[in-house]
Amino acid sequence: RHAAGTREMGQAIQVYDSCDSTNLRAKEWAAQGAPNGALVLAETQTAGRGRLGRGWNSAKGQGLFMSVVLRPPFEAQRAPILTMLSAAAVSAALEEVCKVQAPIKWPNDVIVNGKKVCGILAEMSADMDNVQWVVMGIGINVAQGIEDFPEEIRDKATSLLIETGRSFQRCALAGAVMRQLEQRYDQLMTAGVGAVVDYCRRHSATLGQEVLLVTREGKYKARAVDLAEDGELIVENEQGQREKVVSGEVSVRGI
Ligand code: BTN
Repeated sequence: RHAAGTREMGQAIQVYDSCDSTNLRAKEWAAQGAPNGALVLAETQTAGRGRLGRGWNSAKGQGLFMSVVLRPPFEAQRAPILTMLSAAAVSAALEEVCKVQAPIKWPNDVIVNGKKVCGILAEMSADMDNVQWVVMGIGINVAQGIEDFPEEIRDKATSLLIETGRSFQRCALAGAVMRQLEQRYDQLMTAGVGAVVDYCRRHSATLGQEVLLVTREGKYKARAVDLAEDGELIVENEQGQREKVVSGEVSVRGI
């Protein structure tokens, strides 16, 4: 048994002092047959990537940069639940290790005191509509000071150090995330999506909020009211009609 106390997650592992992006390393490894739960860690990334083509602050010693290869035996259209599963795992790990409330901003940011402390970048390869592999890239801001973030995101980004005044060992955090991921992944495989959707409902920074939905067609205001059984967001638009929002197609902003 691995020190993290997992059966599968993090049993195969690659650790870099520095690499371009742990997601790129994990994707290459996945294409060469990395097993379910294979983990890539880096001290620093030279080309850390965020969602929507953005970069990710990857300074040495300041963040936890990890990517996990998942090989779920299901159809590609069900893959978004894995992002929520990962957000739930990080949220639970932060609550356990750091004793903070860490709600999820749908679909995949983890928030502490109203600011983003973790982002998740999921990348998938599918074959005939079935998932071949998914790489879950998880970036947790651990030890940044506020001056380490670019000025334009200082009202939105934070670190565990800023919010708690404490330094956390990145190894301990990574272990907790992997244990949470394993437990929730096993539960997803044996019992379905119910527990993930439930966790995300009960730990949501989005539900009940007025949000601005930004799609390719334009922007509109709505109220986030619930999560559907498949984990997609249900909003009520200004005409009072309910509709489902598909992750990957919109960006959800608080107002
Ligand atoms: C976001 O935009 O919120 C997602 C950020 C994801 C960052 C992590 S850090 C580890 C992994 N490697 C990357 O290049 N990105 C992800």
